[in-house]
Amino acid sequence: MFTASLNRVEIDIAALRHNCRVIQELLAPGVRILAVVKADAYGHGLERTAQVLAGCGVSAFGVAEVAEGIRLREAGIDGEIVVMLGVFPDSFADVVDKRLTPVVYSLDGLPDLSDLAVAAGVCLNVHLKVDTGMGRFGLVPQQVPDFVQTLAALPGLALGGILSHLPMADSAGRETDAQCQGFATLLAELDGVAAPGSIRHIANSAALFRHPGAHFDMVRPGISLYGCSPFADEQLPELRPVMRFVSRVAQVKDVPAGYGISYGHTFVTEQPSRLAILPVGYANGYLRKLSNGGEVLIGGHRVPLRGNVCMSACVADITDYPEVAVGDEVVLMGRQGSAEITAEQLAEQLETINYEVLCLFGNQNRRVYLDEF
Ligand SMILES: Cc1ncc(COP(=O)(O)O)c(C=O)c1O
Repeated sequence: MFTASLNRVEIDIAALRHNCRVIQELLAPGVRILAVVKADAYGHGLERTAQVLAGCGVSAFGVAEVAEGIRLREAGIDGEIVVMLGVFPDSFADVVDKRLTPVVYSLDGLPDLSDLAVAAGVCLNVHLKVDTGMGRFGLVPQQVPDFVQTLAALPGLALGGILSHLPMADSAGRETDAQCQGFATLLAELDGVAAPGSIRHIANSAALFRHPGAHFDMVRPGISLYGCSPFADEQLPELRPVMRFVSRVAQVKDVPAGYGISYGHTFVTEQPSRLAILPVGYANGYLRKLSNGGEVLIGGHRVPLRGNVCMSACVADITDYPEVAVGDEVVLMGRQGSAEITAEQLAEQLETINYEVLCLFGNQNRRVYLDEF
């Protein structure tokens, strides 16, 4: 018999579909979506997320590594799967076998990949990454024309796309417009060199929402599909958070004033208090930094955590809510009644970004998919 875990991450499939529709409506006809589903779809689960998005008409997916691409093919995804971190010789056979689309940024190994593709009777699409200002993966623009010509001589490979990435699309400055202009100039210079029809893409969620000029032929949303904003200073209320992180009350107990709570007794009660002991902690991604500062929702109320968050436990103060009982739902992130703890609020407390919060919770807990009714 399946025994449910004490904690779960709920994935709201209707919200995922909704966010996808919101994004689709922002795009000019013909502009495609490459859904970024790396890192187990930012904690939402690779296969299921991709299947839902494929059902919404998404035909391209971005994974970090070949292994994720294989998982998608095995889950029945037949759209284009772009391996964003690139590929290494030890995975070439899988790349060809599973018809994955590597991002390339160096000629190393590409003749061998081409030979394998020829031997398998296929011509494999690759997407060339250009560093137009991200300062990370990619050829610098001056290297691109030679690279493209060398690639054209490899019969097993075709230049299916040219991409770049934006480091500042979430800021209000002009850097992104300038970078897109540089990308467009490079693409114009490649006219006649690059294969006609190569898909051009540079926009992440922030550029998708704030820089329509960055859409080119395809956009690459990640965080916005999952219902979170890429902007520190602006929420996107038209999106719906997809993930909710839920636990339950394991024990309720009354303690006197002066009672030390959890490791190190970093909190000592000032008054007789009622405590809810929760079976969740930093092993579930609910980080120790939330000790004595975090809040959870119980019975629709925001209640404070007391003492240090432990590996698999933490303690909430429910003195004001004596009706709370063992087994009651505890929301660590998400909505409960009219109350909500957002990924952004947690990110602020954890001194990080909402992306990391989703990965932390989503990749360390059992996922449950809530389908549309
Ligand atoms: C190359 C690339 N494109 C697109 C994205 C998606 O970005 P976002 O989640 O901000 O939409 C990422 C995410 O890290 C990325 O690395």
